[in-house]
Amino acid sequence: MKVTVLGAGAVGAMLGGLIKRYDPTVDMLFLARGEHGRRMRESGGVELHGPWGRCHVPVRVSDRLADLAGSSVVLLGVKSQDTEEVAQKASEHLGRAVVVSVQNGINQRVLSNHVSPKRLVVGMTATNMAIVAPGVVSLQRNGITVVGAGTEQTPSTIVEQAEAVLAKSRLAVRSERNVLGVQYNKLLMNTMGYASVLSDSNFITEGILDRGWRRAVAMPILAEGLRVLDNAGIELVRTPGLSDVLRFRRLLATIDAPPVAAVLRLVLTKLVVPKRIVYSVYQDLVRGRKTEIDFVNGEIVRLAETHGTEAPLNATVVEMVRELERREPGSFFSRENVVSRFEGIARRQSL
Ligand SMILES: NC(=O)c1ccc[n+]([C@@H]2O[C@H](COP(=O)([O-])OP(=O)(O)OC[C@H]3O[C@@H](n4cnc5c(N)ncnc54)[C@H](OP(=O)(O)O)[C@@H]3O)[C@@H](O)[C@H]2O)c1
Repeated sequence: MKVTVLGAGAVGAMLGGLIKRYDPTVDMLFLARGEHGRRMRESGGVELHGPWGRCHVPVRVSDRLADLAGSSVVLLGVKSQDTEEVAQKASEHLGRAVVVSVQNGINQRVLSNHVSPKRLVVGMTATNMAIVAPGVVSLQRNGITVVGAGTEQTPSTIVEQAEAVLAKSRLAVRSERNVLGVQYNKLLMNTMGYASVLSDSNFITEGILDRGWRRAVAMPILAEGLRVLDNAGIELVRTPGLSDVLRFRRLLATIDAPPVAAVLRLVLTKLVVPKRIVYSVYQDLVRGRKTEIDFVNGEIVRLAETHGTEAPLNATVVEMVRELERREPGSFFSRENVVSRFEGIARRQSL
């Protein structure tokens, strides 16, 4: 079986690499570019870091889209802002391939313009991976990956096929009928996480464990997102652990009592999230690139507008990230500046 990772960056190279590691019979092809792609081509594979230690997994690596022809499964690993262009260019080579996207953002609308609606599988991954050096990818945080039908025409057998291929990675994978509810669950978590990037803050230790940021930024952004989804009639589907946004909201609500905060600080920093979560928006800002913000906080803004309401807090995150995109790479706002901007919006809303 030929599996192609289209955009073998952090997520794509880790998932594809683990699939190949545990099932060497898979004909795995990475489509990759830049220095990362060059290193993988030269070394004939990818180096994976994780709880297993370090390993080098041999895979074929190419930068020619046409090479994906003949694939049974194409795992889409590009960021949301590159999706439309890549899917459009890849479409003539896809044949009968099942296309699987576990990207952040709700990309099924765009993808179904270029991919057969009968062979589109979408979902989300609560893992965190990072390219730590060209050709080297690290699993920073393990978590569940959930997939489901990308359109109403995607049969369950196709979802099962995608699930079975992803499960070869030996990471936790499951399928879900209301996959949109799972995707929005993750998306709401990211609306807060991406706000922490505005000030280059560690989401857990400098974000939610900081009373000022938590109250002015995280809790109101989450409340706004939940209101927008409710208004749009979108039902969230629960996910395991703290990656579930409703469980996370309960945690935010109970965290204010000082003894609770102290215990939680210990648990969260030492046990649950020992490593900083590296958000896609952060990576792009330090590399001086356009970010995925329009597909996460921007998605909430669009959804609100579609249903005749507004999402001013998420709109502010979008606006501030756009400002950072225009600045020197690696430039951020101060935390005080971020907190005071959000406090100002709350004051105006209560007038
Ligand atoms: N990283 C995580 O932990 C994580 C977790 C959950 C979800 N996600 C989501 O998963 C998606 C992928 O994220 P990521 O972190 O894996 O991003 P990433 O490391 O930037 O990987 C994307 C890769 O696609 C490549 N690419 C883009 N266009 C291409 C083309 N035309 N041909 C070949 N390669 C191309 C990029 O190359 P260039 O660098 O040259 O553009 C990059 O190597 C995003 O939607 C992200 O939000 C990420």
